[in-house]
Amino acid sequence: MFMVKNKSFMNYENAVEAAEFIKSKYSKTIKTALVLGSGLGAFADEIENSVKIPYEEIPHFARSTVEGHAGQLVLGEIAGVSVAVQQGRFHFYEGYEMPQVIFPVRTFGVMGVENLILTNAAGSVQTSFKPGDLMLIRDHLNLMGTNPLRGANDERFGARFPDMTEVYDKEFQEIVSEAAKNIAEERLADGTDKELSPFLRRGVYCGLSGPTYETPAEIHMFRMLGADAVGMSTVPEAIAARHQKMRVLGISCITNMAAGISGDVIHHEEVMETGARVAGIFKELLKRTIATIV
Ligand code: HPA
Repeated sequence: MFMVKNKSFMNYENAVEAAEFIKSKYSKTIKTALVLGSGLGAFADEIENSVKIPYEEIPHFARSTVEGHAGQLVLGEIAGVSVAVQQGRFHFYEGYEMPQVIFPVRTFGVMGVENLILTNAAGSVQTSFKPGDLMLIRDHLNLMGTNPLRGANDERFGARFPDMTEVYDKEFQEIVSEAAKNIAEERLADGTDKELSPFLRRGVYCGLSGPTYETPAEIHMFRMLGADAVGMSTVPEAIAARHQKMRVLGISCITNMAAGISGDVIHHEEVMETGARVAGIFKELLKRTIATIV
């Protein structure tokens, strides 16, 4: 039987090389890393004293090809806390192999990062959510058709059969909920919002391979399976991070109603526009969260 030998981008040594390169550009200790999803890249502008490294300069990193992703690692400070921010990620639908998709997470783990915040754009399967809502991911369904840990296991990353009982850290979820409550109250008090809308939801994210959006029949099926939102990312990175024993926080920006929910067709432009519309509140939520989880 033909077996692919250890691909160069999946070696522990490669992650060490990437980590050392990043540390040579930014030497401060980083405990928290953040991945910015489609349309959410503007958050990188909030980083102070930043050092930006295009992915192509980092050993063994792939490049991002999708519109709306700048494709660079931004290192610097948010609310006085040192962070590493992935502005643009590697998606499975772009044709990357899973080890390439999770390579940045592997590198963060080797760098000593303890907390990983994953953000994404997602379609709502829930009729009660609306575009512009943010959804705290409480669990996921891996329906990408594969698992990023498939293949030889390197114990230096983690165990062969990692537990997935609590992928998304409960304490982090409480921190985000509290921050969202405070933001909503402040915006009501200062007149930014007319009503106290519960913009933060909680639900199950269903990870799909894409690149097509789903059919209404598929969305119907995912709803029956317990999904609240669908998207094409996050799940591989969350699995890799838990393998490496990082604490994970996942936040979806609901950019559109999923196929067949509202009857409207889905455009990538709409996904990007909704991301831009919620940028203000999203930034505020992330800033407060990062300041609290250190
Ligand atoms: N489906 C899958 N991925 C998505 C969607 C969607 O409706 N919206 C944003 N990313």
